[in-house]
Amino acid sequence: MTDIFSAVDGYIEGLFAKEDEALAAAVADMKAAGMPGISVSPVLGRLLFVLARAVRARRILEIGTLGGYSAIWLGRALPEDGGMITLEVDPRHAAVARKNLVRAGLSEAVEVREGAALDILPRLIDSGEPPFDFIFIDADKEPYLDYFELSLQLSKPGTMIVADNVIRHGAVIDPARAENPAVAGVKRLSDALAAHPAVDATTIQTVGVKSHDGLALAVVREGR
Ligand code: SAH
Ligand code: DHB
Ligand code: MG
Repeated sequence: MTDIFSAVDGYIEGLFAKEDEALAAAVADMKAAGMPGISVSPVLGRLLFVLARAVRARRILEIGTLGGYSAIWLGRALPEDGGMITLEVDPRHAAVARKNLVRAGLSEAVEVREGAALDILPRLIDSGEPPFDFIFIDADKEPYLDYFELSLQLSKPGTMIVADNVIRHGAVIDPARAENPAVAGVKRLSDALAAHPAVDATTIQTVGVKSHDGLALAVVREGR
C-alpha cells in the first residue's frame, strides 16, 4: 500500500502497539523457522486486544495459530483466570507457537491444540465446551463460512467473532478473481454475515504495513 498508510501505521504502533521482547522474539523465531510473514500486524494485534477487552473476554478461541503472534496479543487481554484455545494444523507451526507463548508467560493461559479445525471444532461442540466470549477466525480461507457456523455453536449472546483477511487487496469486488478459492471463501462468509439472523455484523477495511485487507466483525445477538 502507499507509503502514507505504512507511515501512519508506524505512528499508531508507536502510540499503542509497541512490541515488547516476547512479541519481537516471536517474529524473529517465525522468520528463522521459515514461516510465512502473515501474522497480524502490531496495530491489528492491538485492535484484537482492545476488542477482546471490550467484550471482557474470559474465554477466547482462535482458529489458525501460526507462530502465536496474534495469540500473544489476545492472551494478554485475558483476566488472571481466563483461558484461550488456539487451533493449528501444522505441527511445526504449533511447536514454534508453544515456544513463543512460553516466552510470553502465556503457556498456562493459552493452549495450542493441534489438528484440522474442521475436526477439532465439532469435537469441542460435542464435548460440551462452554461458550467462548471472543473468537478469531484466521486459518485457511475456503472453509471460512464453516468455521463461522461452528463458531456460532461455541458462542453465546454477546460473543464477538472476528474474521481476518476478508477484503484481500480489494479482490473481493473484482469479478475477474471471484473464482479464486480463497476469495470465494471469504466472500461466502461476508454474504452470510450480511444476512445472518444470529449476528449483528460489519466489515472494516484496513491499511498499513500489511497492505489493504479487512476484518469482519460479528456480535452474537440476544435470544437467537
Ligand atoms: N493468527 C495468526 C496467523 C495465522 S496464519 C497470527 O495472526 O499470528 C494461518 C494459520 O492457519 C497457519 O499457521 C496454517 O497452518 C493454519 N491452518 C491452515 N489450515 C488450517 C486448518 N484446516 N486447521 C487449523 N489450522 C489451519
Ligand atoms: C495472508 C495473510 C493472512 O493474514 C492470512 O491469514 C493468510 C494469508 C496473505 O497475505 O497471503
Ligand atoms: Mg490472517
